[in-house]
Amino acid sequence: MSTYSIFILISFLFGFSSGIEEGATMAAYDTIVVGLGAAGATAAGTLARGGRRVLALEAAARAGGRVRTERCGDGVVELGAEWIHGQFPSRVYDLAIQNNVTVRPQDLTFDIYRSDGARTDCELLNELMMYCLDVMEGLSDKPESLGDLITRKLKEYLQKNRPEVLKNQEFVDNFLDFMNLVVNNYEASNDWKDVSALSAYEELRGHQHMSWHKHGYKTFFEILLNTYNNGPGLPTLDIKFNTEVTNIRWPRDGTGDVVVTCRGGEQYTAPNVIVTVSLGVLKERHSTLFTPPLPQEKITAIDLISMGLIGKIILTFDNVFFSQSVLFYWTVDDKKRLPADDKWMLDISGATAPSGCNNTLTLWTGGDGAKLIETLPEDVVKRKVVELLQMFMGANVTVPQPTGMMRSTWYTNPFTRGSYTYDNLLMPQHPHIRETLASPLLDTAGTPRVLFAGEATDNTHFSTVHGASDSGYREAVRLLPASKI
Ligand SMILES: Cc1cc2nc3c(=O)[nH]c(=O)nc-3n(C[C@H](O)[C@H](O)[C@H](O)COP(=O)(O)OP(=O)(O)OC[C@H]3O[C@@H](n4cnc5c(N)ncnc54)[C@H](O)[C@@H]3O)c2cc1C
Ligand SMILES: *[C@@H]1O[C@H](CO)[C@@H](O)[C@H](O)[C@H]1NC(C)=O
Ligand SMILES: *[C@@H]1O[C@H](CO)[C@@H](O)[C@H](O)[C@H]1NC(C)=O
Ligand SMILES: *[C@@H]1O[C@H](CO)[C@@H](O)[C@H](O)[C@H]1NC(C)=O
Repeated sequence: MSTYSIFILISFLFGFSSGIEEGATMAAYDTIVVGLGAAGATAAGTLARGGRRVLALEAAARAGGRVRTERCGDGVVELGAEWIHGQFPSRVYDLAIQNNVTVRPQDLTFDIYRSDGARTDCELLNELMMYCLDVMEGLSDKPESLGDLITRKLKEYLQKNRPEVLKNQEFVDNFLDFMNLVVNNYEASNDWKDVSALSAYEELRGHQHMSWHKHGYKTFFEILLNTYNNGPGLPTLDIKFNTEVTNIRWPRDGTGDVVVTCRGGEQYTAPNVIVTVSLGVLKERHSTLFTPPLPQEKITAIDLISMGLIGKIILTFDNVFFSQSVLFYWTVDDKKRLPADDKWMLDISGATAPSGCNNTLTLWTGGDGAKLIETLPEDVVKRKVVELLQMFMGANVTVPQPTGMMRSTWYTNPFTRGSYTYDNLLMPQHPHIRETLASPLLDTAGTPRVLFAGEATDNTHFSTVHGASDSGYREAVRLLPASKI
């Protein structure tokens, strides 16, 4: 019997964990990646392509995380991320092109529909909305909220160009409510007064709404993991789905491996681990996830950055009764008439037609309403959203009964707890907070043991798939010698 098999026998007899302490050289993997969303799949793919032995542990039954492509008739719909936001420079766009996957620009010009079905004022509403969105794109030089910035600028604009409108206080307030909802749907915030107008976020160049249409965003993950077009996967990458990580014990003193424990009690070891769980998950369980506990500055970053929520309700119909993207403008009277139980309907900002599936409509939800919608009974949501569509879009048509409905549950989902992060009002005083979140935990020898990736850790491209992917690449590169990149 070789010393190796004696060791195995001894660790078997005396329990698995006793083997781990002495088993520093025994780890079967160079790196463990926790989570296989855009960050984790990029990190795992990059390391495995660099020849590293990688184990990816994913709590869900699939890769993708906040990207979730579902079948829909002959096509697909997206319950999570939908578009490639900008093309240059984008790892996501580049990989599509390099693999000959055609992604196409989707035209997202919105028509504004009113809750009373009337078409009055729509030109004015459009003009004011375009103005507000321009303000939002531009940078502020003051530390203030997006809500305050847009309100101030809009009033200046009206004063100069449409003083008669400015006199109608009720209209202006109602319009600002509408814009608040529109902005929340971009930022995933619950109120535009929580969002900083000073943000480090940078838009990529090129078209902002490139769609994977019938291919689905899932294709990005197939490319990363080399399973696209029946690819064989990556030889040095092991993936375990349905495997929830419950604890990560790391050797601060530099001796031995990181020990990752899963829900079923299984343990895996490696010299280092890349954690890619969402900020929502970190907020909820960092205190049990890490042993020893995270340093205070890391905890402060987790607490301070905001995780927002947007969601989708996707309806399928037998035939189309709509042609373009719409935003819902509630009149003051209709808002007042809405029963208390139905107030969540006010948090549905509009609808777009998914480009991967005909005869479907995606309603966009946000904020507290989006949280509630995730928990309401299926039949209630379905009935109410048909009422909503009838109210806004049904002046000349009867909205048909949907043949199917799907909705996202990004908040209820214990492995996401939200949709994506935004820069809140505290951020300008903490300009390096996302870097703090991203910084690896080093042992006493200065070796990175626990590394952090994920959308929230990217200072300029947070809240996107390309930002998440960049962060995974960033951490993989930290572990690879320059020659392997
Ligand atoms: C509705 C919606 C629309 C969006 N639209 C767009 C868009 O159009 N364009 C765009 O660029 N971005 C969009 N985004 C944002 C984008 O989806 C995210 O920024 C990105 O997918 C995040 O990737 P990630 O790898 O950081 O995190 P995630 O995708 O959350 O990956 C983390 C993974 O970790 C797993 N995990 C969590 N806890 C554990 C655990 N304890 N053990 C093991 N595994 C665990 C999760 O299951 C998940 O798979 C949208 C998001 C949502 C929700
Ligand atoms: C949608 O319909 C068009 C024409 O009616 C067709 O060319 C296209 O393939 C359909 N797309 C999907 C995803 O079914
Ligand atoms: C993409 O298409 C080009 C030109 O047809 C071809 O040379 C290349 O091998 C293709 N790449 C992939 C990954 O299929
Ligand atoms: C309904 O039809 C009338 C008459 O054709 C038109 O003026 C009005 O704008 C239409 N309403 C909607 C909401 O499309």
